[in-house]
Amino acid sequence: MTTLFPETMTAVEIAAPGGPEVLRPARRPRPQPGPGEVLIQVVAAGVNRPDTLQRQGKYAPPPGVSDIPGLEISGTVAACGEGVERWQIGDRLCALVAGGGYAEYCVAPVVQCLPVPGPLSLVEAAALPETLFTVWTNVFERGRLVAGESLLVHGGASGIGTTAIPLATARGALVFATAGSREKCAACERLGAVRAIDYRQEDFVAVLRDLTQERGVDVILDMVGGDYLTRNLEVLAVEGRLVQIAFLKGARVELDLYPIMQKRLTLTGSTLRPRTIAAKGAIAQALEREVWPLLEAGRFKPLIHATYPLEQAAEAHRVMEASEHIGKLVLVVPS
Ligand SMILES: NC(=O)c1ccc[n+]([C@@H]2O[C@H](COP(=O)([O-])OP(=O)(O)OC[C@H]3O[C@@H](n4cnc5c(N)ncnc54)[C@H](OP(=O)(O)O)[C@@H]3O)[C@@H](O)[C@H]2O)c1
Repeated sequence: MTTLFPETMTAVEIAAPGGPEVLRPARRPRPQPGPGEVLIQVVAAGVNRPDTLQRQGKYAPPPGVSDIPGLEISGTVAACGEGVERWQIGDRLCALVAGGGYAEYCVAPVVQCLPVPGPLSLVEAAALPETLFTVWTNVFERGRLVAGESLLVHGGASGIGTTAIPLATARGALVFATAGSREKCAACERLGAVRAIDYRQEDFVAVLRDLTQERGVDVILDMVGGDYLTRNLEVLAVEGRLVQIAFLKGARVELDLYPIMQKRLTLTGSTLRPRTIAAKGAIAQALEREVWPLLEAGRFKPLIHATYPLEQAAEAHRVMEASEHIGKLVLVVPS
């Protein structure tokens, strides 16, 4: 590999666990790509809710992973480690990383890198990996959603939700969503949801029972947890699948087992970050085969709420934790 790069770089580090103000620009050593890795000169980095949990000290990086936050990036290949054949220096790509994305340079396992879809900018591409890997593996692999079935997406205006809605719609599902304001619901419907429910004004169980003539929905993607569990079980159809990806309203709940037996329901879920590189590589392959053609054809693209210079990561976290955004927040590295 070549070494024509600065030995240090600007990164945004977590000075100590705490509020957004603990995110501070710092000088860090530039990472080196190992075998099977590429060094990426980062153009943009997506911001995800798990980054805010890491900043608060509630979501430690897996062993051996950079303490710098940031789970998805786009940019150009700056150097290739041993055994990397697919990418050349200068290629544009986006990548899922287990950490280290809020920086000028980041290394990524080659199997977690994907090309930038033709119609998308590098800023848009930075908003793809964390959400698409999560949505694909949870909605389509674990949730087994197929064309003609129905999907309920809680948190429809989130980064995850604004990806799940158009992707499931493009793959032929009937999509419903919940969100916390009329404006957010309108955005979900523009993305393809046949009906978005303002959970502050309406009871999603009652609305969906009515809309589905008491049948219920086939798959639910839930990040809320808490008292949503019972209501989710109520609104699932026979053979329905509940996929849990977070628990914003709490992880500990009382569960009535009867609806699970009566309707032959499946309760599942997953976390992405601790999974093996091989598992993430398998998801990347499925995405390239099943989802990249939709992005290439312009069938959907990430909804970017706002961009911030890398050094203003704290402001992006403030906006995210206030849930002011609709879609994705992206940090841009000054060129
Ligand atoms: N399991 C995994 O592999 C995985 C991977 C990535 C992300 N996640 C999780 O997925 C979730 C979404 O991530 P993201 O990056 O897309 O975050 P995000 O854009 O910040 O979205 C979070 C959403 O949650 C909603 N919300 C917040 N508190 C709520 C509450 N008490 N009840 C109902 N809704 C609430 C907010 O919308 P409203 O204004 O509509 O309430 C907001 O749109 C996060 O919880 C994250 O930790 C899981």
